Amino acid sequence: MGELLEVYEASTSASLAQYKATHASSISDVSGYWSELAKSKLTWFAPFSEGLSGSFEEGSVSWFAGGRLNFVGKENETAIIWEGDEPGNVKHISFHELKNEVCKIANALKSAGVTKGDVVTLYMPMVPELCYTMLACARIGAIHSVIFAGFSADAIADRIQDAKSKWVVTASAGSRGGRNLPLKTICDAAVKKDRCVGVVEKVFVFDGKGETGSDWEVQDIHVKMTELVAAQRPVCSCEWMDAEDPLFILYTSGSTGRPKGLVHTTGGYALFAMHTTANSFGLSQQTAASTDGPKDVYACVADAGWITGHTYIVYGPLLNGCSTLMFESTPMYPDCGRYWDMVQRHKITVFYTAPTAIRSLMRFGDEAPNKYDLSSLRVLGTVGEPINPAAWKWYFDVIGKGRCAVVDTYWQTETGGHVITNLPGITPMKPGSCTLPCYGIEVVVLESATGKEIETTEAEGVLAIKQPWPGMARTCLGDHQRYLSVYMKPYPKYYFAGDGCRRDKDGYIWITGRVDDVLNVSGHRIGTAEVESALVAHMAVAQAAVVGLPHEIKGQGICCFTTLTDGHTESDDLIKELRQAVRTQIGPFATPDMIIPTSALPMTRSGKIMRRILRKIAAGELDSLGDTSTLLDPSVVDTLSKKVEQAR
Ligand code: WTA
Repeated sequence: MGELLEVYEASTSASLAQYKATHASSISDVSGYWSELAKSKLTWFAPFSEGLSGSFEEGSVSWFAGGRLNFVGKENETAIIWEGDEPGNVKHISFHELKNEVCKIANALKSAGVTKGDVVTLYMPMVPELCYTMLACARIGAIHSVIFAGFSADAIADRIQDAKSKWVVTASAGSRGGRNLPLKTICDAAVKKDRCVGVVEKVFVFDGKGETGSDWEVQDIHVKMTELVAAQRPVCSCEWMDAEDPLFILYTSGSTGRPKGLVHTTGGYALFAMHTTANSFGLSQQTAASTDGPKDVYACVADAGWITGHTYIVYGPLLNGCSTLMFESTPMYPDCGRYWDMVQRHKITVFYTAPTAIRSLMRFGDEAPNKYDLSSLRVLGTVGEPINPAAWKWYFDVIGKGRCAVVDTYWQTETGGHVITNLPGITPMKPGSCTLPCYGIEVVVLESATGKEIETTEAEGVLAIKQPWPGMARTCLGDHQRYLSVYMKPYPKYYFAGDGCRRDKDGYIWITGRVDDVLNVSGHRIGTAEVESALVAHMAVAQAAVVGLPHEIKGQGICCFTTLTDGHTESDDLIKELRQAVRTQIGPFATPDMIIPTSALPMTRSGKIMRRILRKIAAGELDSLGDTSTLLDPSVVDTLSKKVEQAR
């Protein structure tokens, strides 16, 4: 991706110099910077004694120790605008109603035995009850673990088992893009697996839209949640939590086959979610406690099952008292104008989506967006992967009509919220660059081989963060060693993000992609090892090597090379079966784009699969294969390239 020479100047008077001064002072005393904000922005039941303590190296980072808090909201303004799968199906939920619903669900959970510190697994459609239940858990100090509704029964079971989650909340069904999501059926299949039997005590089932799910009902396990909730009083005092008490866990993919449950905390995460939402989208002046002036209608169209939904649909906007849109459907339903129709109907001011969605809509041309009034838009956001300049320009010109800031927000499940982004009206934009660090975040570029910090402005290496910040995940549930070895040990004294990057002469960061075995498919993070383990679980597969494949819309596709066990031969049916095996073990969003059975993989003489070469073969970049002299059998390259060519 080449750097464009254009720089898009920010349009207001707030200056880049001011940003630089604020940023420099924020990182010269991170503890002081965040403590001041925590005192002024959050309501404390008991004050904290210390801002930051602990270190990356020991994995002992703690913020606002001793402080106790929970969240409180405003009463009468709109908290959630829910837009259902069918375009006309809209609900406005005020903060008052939100609080009532949250309290009722909190009481329902408590009445069934859920207590502080328990993990509650949520497998829900994008309906308001998902948001209510997350907040109900927060209210009573239970730890929610939301699983994206695209995950399979196997994936749910792994996460329930890993978190020893006694409680599961689902809905009888959901709908998306006109299709029925049989969530209860999938959830039941998970709960019935050996590894969950004896772990799960109750499955709370909300009445969902569409067909009722699996009719498997077990007395004492299934709870009719809609009825139970209706019977509750809308008052529930909140549990006063320690700032470091876990608020939620969220599973994400890494380099091994086992997903890790990252733990986020009550005080630090809440502050970080609130602060970054206000800054990155420029909300602060418009909604902070004031009743006058224009109000933002904020829409993040991600799924609440991923970190983007946690921080920027639920916690960030609501903590700022800003209304947030929850979108149940897809950008293509009923047609490719759906987002723009919503912008017009709800007068959305801040719109936040992923590059993959922009690229797929851009293919349909300008006609759909031009049919709608998009003049309410003020800020456009992008997240999840580097945005290619062509998509950036389309977003800026055709959607934003050249007058909206496009904020390119770089962050991760682990960071809890934005760590690098331009600020609307402040940072001049360069299409494809996430630009400069957020306040309180000290970003550095390290030489990947030595871990040495590169001091020159222009730099190329791996991205790391030098000082703790409140929103960082504190551990991997049940496996602190893994947390240390993945994030803290690769480059001692730094948090290692797992991404490569370049810093240009203006100090702007350009993310070049993951440097580990994690793929980014349509903004979904998928570990190659997870796909490999799904494949080798099939009896026909002896070995599997999975690599990314450049993909015009998805960013990356999934390309699988497999050798077969004796007695199995290549066939279209086998490829279909293997594709299905991945869907069953992980979920439909991880469906391979290409499966190439082969008699041999490129191996070194010492028996290591050369993924570097497989990546080149998958991308069709045969002229830049690099050194192949260490290959056991160099002819493999030719054979595989031909197969890839045929499969395209
Ligand atoms: C990638 C999603 C470039 C990156 C919030 C990171 C990005 C991974 C950007 C985290 C961006 C996210 N520009 N790359 N603006 N945002 N990424 O945990 O590789 O699902 O490490 O969090 O997405 O993915 P995750």
